[in-house]
Amino acid sequence: MERVGTWRRGASAAACVALGALLVAAAPAAGQESHSPSGLGRPPTAAEERDRIIGPDGAELPPGSGNAAEGAIVFVRRGCSTCHGPTGEEGPSISLVGGDVTTRTNYWPIRHWPFAPSIWDYIRRVMPYDRPGILSDDEAYAVTAYILYRNDIISEEAVLDAESLPRIRMPSRDDYVMPGTWTPETRRGFRIEPAER
Ligand code: HEC
Repeated sequence: MERVGTWRRGASAAACVALGALLVAAAPAAGQESHSPSGLGRPPTAAEERDRIIGPDGAELPPGSGNAAEGAIVFVRRGCSTCHGPTGEEGPSISLVGGDVTTRTNYWPIRHWPFAPSIWDYIRRVMPYDRPGILSDDEAYAVTAYILYRNDIISEEAVLDAESLPRIRMPSRDDYVMPGTWTPETRRGFRIEPAER
């Protein structure tokens, strides 16, 4: 019995050490003040801030601006042209100009995106494919303007920023419907089959 008791004391002491270590790990690092009621957690780092997703309405878009002429320069300087081609359509990677939706390539051409801020968001967080995240906000506005201009969606002179980008009406916008308000009575769009025995 004594051995079991000793083992238990030892185990709970180990658990305390482990819990203590956890709390220390969760506590904010020096210089990072926590604002949560528990005192745990920490503000996002600069890298985490930059990884913020911009919604389709563009409400979270940051300051900055750019136009197609600046975007054409960014397109080459940031290496987009090495994968997408000198003007965005020659490849070897997918063309960013024109095109139709096909299941063969499972590729969604720019003209079929319903919301322009989503294109900005995608480029800013995912491209260039080999070095994502290197674009400044101004560069992201400029290169988005370049691609939208190459697809005849905006004029060559248009300046894109947090106000003008969400106002762009994408040509295929009406192909999409917003889902209605969900209630517990809302019928599913599919039927759940009973599990096979
Ligand atoms: C190393 C090659 C490479 C580089 C460099 C690159 N891309 Fe891409 N890009 C890709 C690939 C591959 C895809 C398809 C990714 C997928 O579908 O998962 C893609 C997809 C895209 C798309 C989405 C197209 C669509 O209609 O779905 C955009 C927009 C885009 N790239 C813009 C850019 C821009 C702007 C740059 C430069 C800042 C850039 N890319 C640099 C390889 C690259």
